[in-house]
Amino acid sequence: MSGKDEQQKDAGGWDYIWNPRTNEFLGRTAKSWGLILSFYLVFYLFLAGMFVFTMYVMLLTLDDFTPTNQDRLVTPGLMIRPRGELLELRFSPENTETWDAHAQSLDTFLEPYNDIYQAQTNDDCVPDQFFIQEDSAEVRNHPKRSCQFNRTVLEECSGLQDRSYGYQSGQPCVLIKLNRVIGMLPGKEGLSPYVTCASKKEDVNLGQLAYFPSNAAFNLMYYPYYGKRAQVNYTQPLVAVKFMNLTMNQDVAVECVVVSNTIAPGAERDKFAGRVSFKLRVNVFWKIKN
Ligand SMILES: *[C@@H]1O[C@H](CO)[C@@H](O)[C@H](O)[C@H]1NC(C)=O
Ligand SMILES: *[C@@H]1O[C@H](CO)[C@@H](O)[C@H](O)[C@H]1NC(C)=O
Ligand SMILES: *[C@@H]1O[C@H](CO)[C@@H](O)[C@H](O)[C@H]1NC(C)=O
Repeated sequence: MSGKDEQQKDAGGWDYIWNPRTNEFLGRTAKSWGLILSFYLVFYLFLAGMFVFTMYVMLLTLDDFTPTNQDRLVTPGLMIRPRGELLELRFSPENTETWDAHAQSLDTFLEPYNDIYQAQTNDDCVPDQFFIQEDSAEVRNHPKRSCQFNRTVLEECSGLQDRSYGYQSGQPCVLIKLNRVIGMLPGKEGLSPYVTCASKKEDVNLGQLAYFPSNAAFNLMYYPYYGKRAQVNYTQPLVAVKFMNLTMNQDVAVECVVVSNTIAPGAERDKFAGRVSFKLRVNVFWKIKN
C-alpha cells in the first residue's frame, strides 16, 4: 500500500504537469497537443512559404543588366568638364598654376577618347541613326558594341593641338556631356540633339563661341545607352565649347541647354533639367595695369 500512497501523493503534487487520471500533460491531452503543434507547424510553414514565394517573384523581375527602378528624369541633365569648384572656372592665362589642374583633368578625362583606343574598342557606326541592339526574346545580345567617339572630333578642344585647351590664350574650352539615361532616344527623324550656350545676363556678351563638333550635336548613333554592364565600352559623346572672345576680368555666367525634338525643355524651376550653368572668369593683370 505504501507504493500506491506515494504514487497518489506524487500525483497530487505534480498534477499540473502530468495528470495520470486524465492523461493530461500541462493541462492538455496528447490529442490536443498534437492539434496545437500541427496547427503551428502548418502556420509557420505557410509563412515561410509566403516569404520564399515573394522573394522568388521579386528576383524573377530583377535583371542584372537593366535596373528595374530607374529615376528616369523626363529631361536629363548636362554636365561640364572641367567642373572647377562649384562649376566656377577662374584663371589667368599667364599664370599656369591657375589652370594647369583643369588641363590635367581634361587630359585624364579624354584619354579613353584617343582615336587609337576608340578604333581598338568601338565600332565605326553609321551616323544620324540609333544603334539599336535589342535582345531577341531569350537570347541576350550581350555584350553590346559601342560607337567610336574620336578625340580628334574636338579639334581645338581635344588637347592634341593645344595642350592647354585654350586656357593659356584666355579662350577656355569646356566639354559638355548629356547625362546617361538607359534606353533614352534623344531625338527623332535623324535629328540629333545639340547644345547651345548663352550668357545668363543680357548685358554680358559671351563673345564668339566655337563648337566642336561644329554642329554641337550628340549624334544619334551613341543612343540608346544600354547600361554599364551590357555596354562595357560605351563612350559618352561630347560637345566642346570654346569661348573665343570672353570679356576679361568679369564674371560671366553661362548657361548651356540641350535642344532636341524628343527631350522636353527643362522646367524653368528645375535648374538641372536639360541644362547646366557655370561661371567663367578670366583674369588678366596686364590689362588692369594699362
Ligand atoms: C576614328 O578614328 C579612326 C582612326 O583614325 C578612324 O578609322 C575612324 O573612322 C574614326 N571614327 C569616327 C567615328 O570618326
Ligand atoms: C571592349 O574593349 C576591349 C578592348 O579594349 C575589346 O577587346 C572588347 O571586345 C570590347 N567589348 C565590346 C563588347 O565592345
Ligand atoms: C571681342 O570682343 C570685343 C568686345 O567685347 C570686341 O570689341 C571685339 O571686336 C571682339 N573680337 C572678335 C574677334 O570678335
